[in-house]
Amino acid sequence: RPPLRVALAGIGVVGGGVVRLLEANRDLIARRAGRAVEIVAISARDRQKDRGVDLSPYRWEDDMAALVEADDVDVVVEMVGGADGPALTLARQALGAGKALVTANKAMIAHHGLDLARIAEAQDRPLKYEAAVAGGIPVIKAIREGASANEIARVYGILNGTCNYILTLMEREGASFADALAAAQAEGYAEADPTFDVDGIDAAHKLSILAALCFGTRLDFDTVTAEGIRGLIAADIREAAALGHRVRLIGMAERDESGLYQHVQPCLVPADHPLAYVPGALNAVVAEGNFVGRLFFEGAGAGAGPTASAIVADIIDIARDEYGPAFAMPVDALDAAPAADARAR
Ligand code: HSE
Repeated sequence: RPPLRVALAGIGVVGGGVVRLLEANRDLIARRAGRAVEIVAISARDRQKDRGVDLSPYRWEDDMAALVEADDVDVVVEMVGGADGPALTLARQALGAGKALVTANKAMIAHHGLDLARIAEAQDRPLKYEAAVAGGIPVIKAIREGASANEIARVYGILNGTCNYILTLMEREGASFADALAAAQAEGYAEADPTFDVDGIDAAHKLSILAALCFGTRLDFDTVTAEGIRGLIAADIREAAALGHRVRLIGMAERDESGLYQHVQPCLVPADHPLAYVPGALNAVVAEGNFVGRLFFEGAGAGAGPTASAIVADIIDIARDEYGPAFAMPVDALDAAPAADARAR
């Protein structure tokens, strides 16, 4: 089969990871995909910036729109970030032009995922976003494919590595919130604007995507409520520990006959619960299916390697022509499904 030709838009920490992974595991990927996967073009803001990876073998486009217009591009990988603006323009144009789209952009999927899925379906092209939720943990594939025969009533977990890292440092070293946040930023876990991390918005983006997949509902970010960890002090964490609990930022979504509940908040987790053991910047997701029982996923939710791992897995799916609707079912079927009203708790 001819090679799958990939264009990368936005080369930061994650983009550099994708280039390194596609180069390092080139032969293995070609064997598993049944065809070669080749980077044909790259676009990012600053050509001169040192990204620790040699980009000179690849065609450089100053204007991202050129990736969409190019005849030799099959897949556009969007790593620009931001719910709207250039990322959304690129995503719409790429799908509209009949390209496959792979994105790591949780904010864009949370706000515009259904609209993008509609364009993808009209073009019969894939929209893939494994990296948008819990970084390297293949939780989208696990729920969308592996658990698709189940009624899922509840999904919850640790969906933001920055907050988990901060809470772990406050707990183990008695660090202040400000010092722990600075350490998380230095490690590269935090978003460019860490407000989204510490105020629970990043976790809320991911929760809304998971909930839509688990419950087969229309993705609805506006019904997620979020409370972050900014107000916590080291003494809160110490007192929780004295009571046999750990403080964790938990996103939880539940659906029952009274509606859909989606909330992110700091919770007291009993010290013997698996979520209490999730260390550092790791993420964890628990989903409860009516036939499979409780599923527990843990792994790196951020960072170049894990995020690249999820992005390249999506590219391999596309190379194999293995894809279906972006969400639990085609968008028309989601439109026809009863609305899941938000309910308070
Ligand atoms: N800032 C995010 C986190 C990165 O800390 O989890 C991955 O979405």
